[in-house]
Amino acid sequence: MSWKDKINMDKLPQHVAIIMDGNGRWAKQWGKPRIFGHKHGVKSVRETAEAAAELGIKYLTLYAFSTENWNRPKAEVNALMRLLVRTIHKETKTLHKNNIRLLAIGDLYSLPKITLQELTNAIQDTAHHARMSMVLALSYSSRREITNAAKKIAQLVASKEITADSVDQNLFESFLSTHSIPDPGLLIRTSGEYRISNFLLWQIAYSELYFTPKLWPDFRKEDLYEAIVEFQKRERRFGKTSEQIIK
Ligand code: IPE
Ligand code: IPE
Ligand code: MG
Repeated sequence: MSWKDKINMDKLPQHVAIIMDGNGRWAKQWGKPRIFGHKHGVKSVRETAEAAAELGIKYLTLYAFSTENWNRPKAEVNALMRLLVRTIHKETKTLHKNNIRLLAIGDLYSLPKITLQELTNAIQDTAHHARMSMVLALSYSSRREITNAAKKIAQLVASKEITADSVDQNLFESFLSTHSIPDPGLLIRTSGEYRISNFLLWQIAYSELYFTPKLWPDFRKEDLYEAIVEFQKRERRFGKTSEQIIK
């Protein structure tokens, strides 16, 4: 029996975010260089995106590269950037086939020109797809995103275009790169690490967190289904009492 049969289709998270971790350790298990793990992670991306779209999930955000990841050995960073170009190029057909729109968040201008070009092309080519949006977090830092929002708001206050009093959560959110995207209902992290690593700090205020020991290159459709079944067992109280939720 598949975990899929246990999913309540009326209670799907609208947005699933994933910290795709464990590629390096997966490669090590096979006695291979780290990039071997990154390459095998592509299949997990394809499977997860397909599964999410088939279920009817509207947004899938994938943490692919953090700003801190620039501090890795140059050879690994370069290989990752090349892999990214090839993957985006090759997988655009998967996006078309599954009616998926590609979006990206992060400091995209810090990416190599060719990577940015490939990414921009894929975003434009898939802009008309409406079944699901797949958001790639690339050169992403949540603290930077929040700091940038604060900076822009401070400039608007300084130039008297808005008053300090008008700054509220809605206004703040409108300056985040995720402004048109609902907050994730479910956040998954693979590889058995229990941390957030600078990902969507504002947006996950009330997300359900799910950690699995599976390494990212081993993550398959069934693993996504299992995470969703677990999500659906949780009681999301948003500060209220259990009695208030049930009634
Ligand atoms: C996640 O896998 C992919 C990226 C961060 C780019 P890692 O490369 O972090 O793999 P581990 O955590 O070292 O096993
Ligand atoms: C988080 O993984 C970033 C991505 C998955 C892209 P890391 O492997 O970089 O996180 P830490 O360093 O273990 O916290
Ligand atoms: Mg890691």
